Amino acid sequence: MCGIVGYMGSSGVASILLSGLKCLEYRGYDSAGIAYINNGKLNVTKSAGKLENLEKLLTADRQSSLAFSGIGHTRWATHGVPNDLNAHPHLNADSSIAIVHNGIIENYAMLKEELESEGYKFNSDTDTEVIVHLLTKEYKKTNSILKAITNSVKKLVGSYALGIISSYQKDTIFAVNHHYSLTLGQGDNEFYLASDIVAVRQYTNKILRLEQSEIAEITQNQVRLYDFNGHETMREFITVDSDPYLINKDGYKHFLLKEIHEQPTILRQTIGKYMVHPNAKINFNQNNEPLTNAHTQEKSAGVHLSKNDIMGIENILIIACGTAYHAGMIGKYYLEQLCNVPVNVEIASEVRGRNLLVNEKSLVIAVSQSGETADTIAALSEAKRKGAYTLGITNRADSHLSRISSNLIITECGVEVSVAATKTYIAQVVSFLLFALYLAEERGSLTTSYINNLKLELHSLPALVETVLANETYIKEASIKYADAQDMVFIGRGINYPTALEGALKLKELSYIHASGYAAGELKHGPIAVLDSLVPVVTILMPGSVYDKTLSNAQEARARNAQMIAVACSDDEKAHKYFDTVLEVPPVDELLSPILAVIPLQLFSYFISDYLGKDVDQPRNLAKSVTVE
Ligand code: F6R
Repeated sequence: MCGIVGYMGSSGVASILLSGLKCLEYRGYDSAGIAYINNGKLNVTKSAGKLENLEKLLTADRQSSLAFSGIGHTRWATHGVPNDLNAHPHLNADSSIAIVHNGIIENYAMLKEELESEGYKFNSDTDTEVIVHLLTKEYKKTNSILKAITNSVKKLVGSYALGIISSYQKDTIFAVNHHYSLTLGQGDNEFYLASDIVAVRQYTNKILRLEQSEIAEITQNQVRLYDFNGHETMREFITVDSDPYLINKDGYKHFLLKEIHEQPTILRQTIGKYMVHPNAKINFNQNNEPLTNAHTQEKSAGVHLSKNDIMGIENILIIACGTAYHAGMIGKYYLEQLCNVPVNVEIASEVRGRNLLVNEKSLVIAVSQSGETADTIAALSEAKRKGAYTLGITNRADSHLSRISSNLIITECGVEVSVAATKTYIAQVVSFLLFALYLAEERGSLTTSYINNLKLELHSLPALVETVLANETYIKEASIKYADAQDMVFIGRGINYPTALEGALKLKELSYIHASGYAAGELKHGPIAVLDSLVPVVTILMPGSVYDKTLSNAQEARARNAQMIAVACSDDEKAHKYFDTVLEVPPVDELLSPILAVIPLQLFSYFISDYLGKDVDQPRNLAKSVTVE
């Protein structure tokens, strides 16, 4: 959450910082700003709202293009509303020190009281501002920015990353990382700083990631690293040889639409990677790669559980947030159904502060697209402390989650730019299915013929997703008919209950229409009270063990005059008879149905959002990487 960039070199700082911030805008877009030094003077330009507002200000500010060092920030508001005053960078009273900050300072209220009693005047409602005043106070005592930093970090509680610039040391910018993520990039007599490697990789493939509690002192010619006691540490920049993280819309109107259309390819790649052909055993370690690639510092995917470990697993806990939590709910279904092992799935933030009942016989699976979600990381760390086996499922090999997971499945979807998750969701779901099949094969919990049939179906899944996408024009017309709804209800049962939750989540985050997902059988236990002719009810009506019961629950909604929408198979006559709108998918095995059923729901939300003129790729109030608890 929030993004930091920095530059120290000999090119105009404004365009470099802006370009970095564009890559990080997914982390928050409530406000943006930069601080730079020109002619020995520290200047700050910032603005509430999206990056384009800052861009306009900078175009009019010629000085910013003449400066060669600076820091920048894009904000997702935690403390204080998104306005100009709360936007970063924050300056001290005499404009000699400016900082940008990610994370939360948990003891900021106490520090603020202390600083105010000493005469420091606060201009914003942020927790960040305490840091700039603390640095000022410590600088007055030590006459050194580095010492001011090492003294200040001892007083700060929380996880955070900082960028610092000061007119007291004009030729330097500082970066501070404490249980967050900051990456440095090295060019020719220039250095880049960013919260995400993506923003640095556009300029250089020589990178260095800051350790958990580390300070970087960056001048034009060198970077010096220090621990929080001020002792210098030595590490080299490494060359990242992977492809640059390319970000473009490929002609699509929005990243979201592009990412929805990438799903068949992603399924093909993921399935093909771990299941070379339908008769082959599933293998998560086919390249025998070392778990951590020393060259790139990125962790390679791999499941390193021995047969004994696998046979000894007595229970599984899945932890995740948001869309990843919905993937985890489907994962529970797969693991219980195919491997006969009890599985719990928990919202990661709900695990905090509880007695986590896992032990050496437990496997804890953390699912996170970004691999940086603070609650998920904290819950997994706690499980690790208790001795559980750990498995991370993430799209980012370079993430915090990857570093702390003993076993790792990388979903390899490429960067997901749109804030709403789509392609990473189906990759998480299919990864769960592959992992469940892998465990089932190892534990011998299913017959070979059952497994082989399922693998065969899985092999043909990407083509089925393509047929749903080919129906896009119809889905568009069908969707926008419901664009004036104020509320929508999504229902599903069994393996498609999570699909209903995900459908509702996508609709509300993309269109801002209020939507709730329910287990279809729960409708009559309360939610049915909200139904009338103005409320569309979307039923996930896929063939399988719960088809009849789901249809009966939908009839209960129909009897209350609700507008009836179904996601159902193309050959389902009952669906065509009882529902006003049918979003069709091809017939498929029940276990694979969540992967197909979610596709028309993604498009449904996309088209409504676009029709309503909403900000599809960056919905209001959201951020892609949720690094605060
Ligand atoms: C919804 C969405 C969020 C994320 C959630 C967890 O479209 O993207 O609900 O799924 O914030 O994020 P990750 O997966 O990065 O842990």
